[in-house]
Amino acid sequence: MRDFDNMTVILLAAGQGTRMKSPLPKVLHPISGEPMIYRIIRTIQSLGDAEIRVVVGHGKELVSRVVDGLGVTCLIQEKQLGTGDAVRVAMEPPTDGDVLVLNGDHPLITADDLSKIVREFKSSDVGMGVVTCELGEPGSFGRIVRDSYGTVQAIVEAKDATDVALKIKEVNTGIYVASSDIFKKYLPQIQSTNAQNEYYLTDVVELMRTDQKEILGIKANRNVAFGVNSQMELAMANKEIYRKKVDTLLENGVIVLDPETTYVEDEVEVGSGAVLYPGVFLRGKTQIGALTVIEPNCMIIQSTIGDSCEIKAGSYIEKSEVGERSVLGPYARLRPETKIGKECKIGNFVELKKVDFGDKSKASHLTYLGDAEVGEDTNIGCGTITCNYREDKKKYKTKIGSGVFVGSDTQFIAPVEIGDGALIGSGSTITKNVPKDALAVARGRQIVKEGWATRFTGKK
Ligand code: UD1
Ligand code: MG
Repeated sequence: MRDFDNMTVILLAAGQGTRMKSPLPKVLHPISGEPMIYRIIRTIQSLGDAEIRVVVGHGKELVSRVVDGLGVTCLIQEKQLGTGDAVRVAMEPPTDGDVLVLNGDHPLITADDLSKIVREFKSSDVGMGVVTCELGEPGSFGRIVRDSYGTVQAIVEAKDATDVALKIKEVNTGIYVASSDIFKKYLPQIQSTNAQNEYYLTDVVELMRTDQKEILGIKANRNVAFGVNSQMELAMANKEIYRKKVDTLLENGVIVLDPETTYVEDEVEVGSGAVLYPGVFLRGKTQIGALTVIEPNCMIIQSTIGDSCEIKAGSYIEKSEVGERSVLGPYARLRPETKIGKECKIGNFVELKKVDFGDKSKASHLTYLGDAEVGEDTNIGCGTITCNYREDKKKYKTKIGSGVFVGSDTQFIAPVEIGDGALIGSGSTITKNVPKDALAVARGRQIVKEGWATRFTGKK
């Protein structure tokens, strides 16, 4: 059995997040390219089959829609009356077994942190554990009050604390793990008589003490306590998470010239000996082959790049595949459903969309190919355009065979097919199929009138 099987996890996400100063609900702000709340849900799910209950309030429709399909239940807290009230909402319908309470806005928590917390609780025989950590500047965190034996006696909110209590460095991270019976018994007893007129979940501690019940203080690292409350903290969290990913790449033999300015999302895989220049952004389920070089300011999204490729500066690649030893860019753009073969060349200002581009073929300059098939060893000249969009507002295909030479400034009016080995003269507008090995020229004939220029210039 895994640590989280048969557990209930309550994720608190109803707060407004006023200090974010953004119209987006706080838990939907992006961490490593996805809404903050996805990350914590995925972390929980990696630890077992817990029932996840998300308490939503501010922006509830949007948050519920975003987490729909992730296998969690959203419970609505109509008014944000405090963390105690939020957990009360989440305990309906009541659950059995152990309950873990987490904040939706603590993105630096790892699966390892959570599993340690739950294990420590399970190996004790107390009814509730509070996760704490020591902070040099405890600020607005609730303070953990212990007696002279070190037993946890209370959690005092900063706004309610005496000067003596404010000096305590051990703080409440806002994470709790308890047997559901404890919440069932004590949540209804919480009052809102405090500085904020809120129902404090933390009051459960004192209520338990009144009944002589022990509370476990579970010590964790400071990342566990790190909550996002402002754009500054969001930026710090992102920095930390991107940096961690780059550190793993470095450990696996990837060459990263400037780890601070290289952004790689969690699911990306990069082969050893690959080189990432500054300003590279790798997103989604992207795979980069071994020894591939990615020059500055490339954005690569959900794509697969083979081994020993060169992706030159400023290229943008989305939902595409590139075969080994191909060279792209600078400033190449691959739009979704493009498949580039091996040893190809896609040069500057070339845009491809839904193209199957065969091995060893080239499109070196200033070209648009859309809805096209290109065979092997074909050369697409500078300024070639597939005109795929017709007067009936439908898209049509251009099929170009293998060993074809397309002269510069050619337009293919789709649907059109060019046979293997064909030659297309520069400046052609191709409207009809061209058979194998044929030459097609489709341009106006040049007219030369000797001396006529002087009629305009007046020169003799
Ligand atoms: C709470 C703790 C404090 C702890 C801190 C750690 C209480 C009374 N205090 O502080 O001891 O140091 O967390 O971060 O619990 N939320 C709801 N509904 C509400 C109120 C809050 O869902 O009615 C959610 C928020 O969205 C947030 C979480 O609960 O995710 C914590 O709320 P927040 O206001 O940030 O924490 P504090 O109450 O300041
Ligand atoms: Mg609060």
